[in-house]
Amino acid sequence: MSLDLYYFSATGNCLAVARDIASEFEDARLIPITKALAVGIEQADAVGVVFPVYMFGLPLIVAEFLKALKLNPGTYVFTVATFGGLPGRAHSLARNILKSGGLKLSCGFSVIMPGNYTPLYGAISEEKQKEMFSREKIRVKEIAQFVRARKEGVFEESPVFTNFLFYSLFYRLGAKQIPSLSKGFWVTDACIKCGRCAGVCPVANIEMKDGRPVWLDHCQHCMACLQWCPVEAIQYAKTTVGRKRYRHPAVSEEDIKGQKA
Ligand SMILES: Cc1cc2nc3c(=O)[nH]c(=O)nc-3n(C[C@H](O)[C@H](O)[C@H](O)COP(=O)(O)O)c2cc1C
Repeated sequence: MSLDLYYFSATGNCLAVARDIASEFEDARLIPITKALAVGIEQADAVGVVFPVYMFGLPLIVAEFLKALKLNPGTYVFTVATFGGLPGRAHSLARNILKSGGLKLSCGFSVIMPGNYTPLYGAISEEKQKEMFSREKIRVKEIAQFVRARKEGVFEESPVFTNFLFYSLFYRLGAKQIPSLSKGFWVTDACIKCGRCAGVCPVANIEMKDGRPVWLDHCQHCMACLQWCPVEAIQYAKTTVGRKRYRHPAVSEEDIKGQKA
């Protein structure tokens, strides 16, 4: 069975999970969502979409990709969401978008990984990260088994009441504001003008002006710029100064850069 795995990743969790899933199949291809949106989507027997949960829902670029997804009827489609605490209702959103395009979402898995939303919290300890990565390897094998058997019907989401509360509060009200949230980023005097923030931005939302980053208006709020800054000069609002950054240890800056369309 040919499997195409599309992914969006800022700090590597989704790329690591997508790679691990791919390694369970003989004929799997890894494709960045940003590139697929630019060059078009090819047909495969099965399609998996791996993305991070944002505000209990979907990153905007993932919603855009799902809207653009045109596949042969009967293609087996599944989603895998990585999340730091609460998966929300990302799979339900994906299912609804796909349904409007005449496609069926067969199942949606959620894999807990270290959270990367530094405006709210710092990275967990390396020891806890390692425990999570060990559990992720086991989860991936279960997911691959499920997909190989083309099973249906599992959608791993937060409980209905939690979703009602958090999803309604954050995603429904906040998602449209995401592109303009880039206004909250700023850079300290520690900036060494290396331009790596612009390099890792998966959606090319950063321009360098006089050697320093300037954020444009199509931000995904993914935190790649803040997390990959080698001197931790990039901050968001007032809460990120001094907070521990996060990047998946098996994913490189080049891997993240490779997503650029
Ligand atoms: C803007 C933003 C919103 C997030 N919202 C949630 C959330 O609602 N629930 C959750 O559990 N994790 C949330 N996270 C954490 C990410 O989903 C999680 O760390 C994910 O594994 C990151 O994937 P990546 O490393 O591939 O970018 C959020 C992260 C960001 C940047």
